[in-house]
Amino acid sequence: MIIAANFKANHTRESTAAYLEALNLFLDACPTSCDVRVYPSASSFLRADLYSHVKLGAQNFYPVINGAYTGETSSQHLDEFGIKNVLIGHSERRVILNETQDITAKKYAFAKERGWEIIYCIGEPKYIRDNGFEAVMEYLWSEFEGIDIDYEKFSVAYEPIWAIGTGVSAKIQDIAEVLDALKKRFATAPLLYGGSVKVENLSSILSIRSCSGVLIGNAALDAANFCKLIQTAQNVQK
Ligand code: 13P
Repeated sequence: MIIAANFKANHTRESTAAYLEALNLFLDACPTSCDVRVYPSASSFLRADLYSHVKLGAQNFYPVINGAYTGETSSQHLDEFGIKNVLIGHSERRVILNETQDITAKKYAFAKERGWEIIYCIGEPKYIRDNGFEAVMEYLWSEFEGIDIDYEKFSVAYEPIWAIGTGVSAKIQDIAEVLDALKKRFATAPLLYGGSVKVENLSSILSIRSCSGVLIGNAALDAANFCKLIQTAQNVQK
């Protein structure tokens, strides 16, 4: 099971280091079979090999080795920290930062070329959800345009936009329906859910047959709470 924390634009370098230290100590004392990942902001990157029980990842990058791309994070920047895990296609990048499917696919191809582990994010806005399951799936499939789904280091995170940061996660039945449909096409890729995951709803989300993990924002910002989430996940029998 993949249990991942997406810090978004939260935490400083100092607080990220303290968080990772605490998390690694916890995992040392309470070993887990979960694949624990943390995605800090680029200004808080730390050497990935410092934390033996945690995979460090990047929330975003620009698909170049280096060059004249003001303000961007290149593969050289990730390489310096030994980071080989990335999120691609998060709805906050698609919607707020206006990233198109074309640039999203370019990032995916670039990451694949480097053998990075990818969590590829998809999710529909509320007005699509209101049109029912068929409309949701049509929208989600369009977010796979240009994406090589046969890449073996790829997971999908289904994050309905309207469930992100709202405190209200999608209904278990709706998550299950989407993940089951994805499973039919991606037999081997782990399928994650994200959107207001917290200690209270984690067990029922992870009990969904096709669910292999979660991508967590708010509830993972506090290290102690993230440890609680990992412990809860550990207790879910699959
Ligand atoms: P929240 O857990 O804060 O809803 O965020 C989910 C998310 O966007 C993770 O990538």
